[in-house]
Amino acid sequence: MAHADLKTVNGEKVLMVDGRPFIMLAGEVHNSNSSSPEYMEAIWDLADTLHMNTLLLPVTWEMTEPEEGKYCFDTVDALIGQARQHHKKIAFLWFGAWKNAACMYAPEWVKTDTERFLRAEGTKGKKGTVLPSGMPYTTLSAFCEETKRKDAQAFALLLSHIREMDEKESTVIAVQVENETGLLGSGRDHCDAADRAFEKPVPEGLQAYLQSHPEYLTDAFRKAWNKKEGENREASWSDVFGSMAEEAFMAYYTASYVNAVAEAGKKEYPLPMTVNCWLDQGGGAGAFPSGGPTANMFPIWKFAAPSIDILCPDIYVPYFAEVCRQYTRGGNPLYIPECAVHSYAGPREIFVIGHHHALCYAPFGFEEIGRPFNAVQGMLFGMDTSDPALKTPQDAEQYAKINSYLESILPQLGEAYGTSRLQGTSSECSEKTMHFGTFDFEAAFDSPFLKHHNGACLMLQKSENEFLALVLGCRLSAVSTDPERPSTEYLLVEEGTYQNGIWHPGRRLNGDETSIMCFDDPTLLQIRVHAF
Ligand code: DGJ
Repeated sequence: MAHADLKTVNGEKVLMVDGRPFIMLAGEVHNSNSSSPEYMEAIWDLADTLHMNTLLLPVTWEMTEPEEGKYCFDTVDALIGQARQHHKKIAFLWFGAWKNAACMYAPEWVKTDTERFLRAEGTKGKKGTVLPSGMPYTTLSAFCEETKRKDAQAFALLLSHIREMDEKESTVIAVQVENETGLLGSGRDHCDAADRAFEKPVPEGLQAYLQSHPEYLTDAFRKAWNKKEGENREASWSDVFGSMAEEAFMAYYTASYVNAVAEAGKKEYPLPMTVNCWLDQGGGAGAFPSGGPTANMFPIWKFAAPSIDILCPDIYVPYFAEVCRQYTRGGNPLYIPECAVHSYAGPREIFVIGHHHALCYAPFGFEEIGRPFNAVQGMLFGMDTSDPALKTPQDAEQYAKINSYLESILPQLGEAYGTSRLQGTSSECSEKTMHFGTFDFEAAFDSPFLKHHNGACLMLQKSENEFLALVLGCRLSAVSTDPERPSTEYLLVEEGTYQNGIWHPGRRLNGDETSIMCFDDPTLLQIRVHAF
């Protein structure tokens, strides 16, 4: 069987695993947990309970190459073995030179040789700093050829090892290259190598690429970009990118570094490769990692990192739907490696699969799902906002139910990716109507008949008037769009489950239930409608 791959179907990228479309109903574990297969035992069990089909697991440079040139893949092997026992897939996260824009996962021999492995200098001559938050901070420089060479070498050996032991079984289906790259505390690196690069003109081809890919440009980027293609081949970063010069410069060189690592890995085993992003939440480059794949830097990353298949957002902010829109520009598939485990986690999973045909949805630190938030989670998940749903942990049972429904209809969903037969909406999505030819379905999430107002719905059209729906916290109404037959009635609304591809009906809903059509809990429905 071929290894996992991305295939374009009906103009959309679909993840193919074992020859079939696959959707990662995933979870990302806390940073340190996958360093111990023993510790992971209980986490695999929890993933079973939650009906997850994939785990996102860190693999670190420090554990892979503890001494220069001496590699160890024992933990990787053990994790793959556990995944197989639990019938799950893995996406590994390569914590190499960067993790949260810092270099904490570099091996000791890299950390302690600052002559050979250059540190970034946010301020000229300073290899470390204290961030405004009070956090001590240092990171490796994206401009150090030696770091790039060694990081890429270790990554390539990891991929070659995975190929050797897993190509036939395809347990590992994707790899994230580095984690939340960029530089904190400053707009750009000022080490000597970086200064020399900053003196050079903007690389040839970049501006032409920007001209021919308007779909990737944000309004802010357009505003900063001073188009000068052809006029001045010596144009500097400041000439061309004005107020965004430092961030654009860092994005180009950080993406080029990551691309070299990804390329080395792909030569050994061409699995789908991703990068994740610490989002730009304002405050200027440096308040968020300067040079990471933010919405504004999207086109520069696409240009400089062709070996990266998908740019991915880590979404902890409340404006979730807007971030999804930003990260699906120009056909970038939606792949969410990290998101919050507050009570939007379940509805958002339904939404991203229905509306965006997402390839991966992974709440971060799902080990704590359902438990009261600690202070860090509170801050990350927006406890300071007025929306009570952001302060409420995701109910674990509800999440398991959603995943079990999604898992049971995964082949049907996967086949509908790239078509308008699969649509979705949510309380956070501005478009609440799903259009299916003769019928529209309107979803409402603010009905007084509903217990919660954070809901979602996905619908799969099976024939002109037959639909499969997964609803949660949602009121649904069918509307005929045929002017000759303007009225609509339900012929069948049936709860049920799919088991091994066979529909097992539950209650047949009618009367009060179909007059109101409100669903507080995750519910899978077969619906047949009639226009007259
Ligand atoms: C984003 C990082 O990518 C994760 O590894 C983790 O550190 C979370 N932030 C914080 O909980």
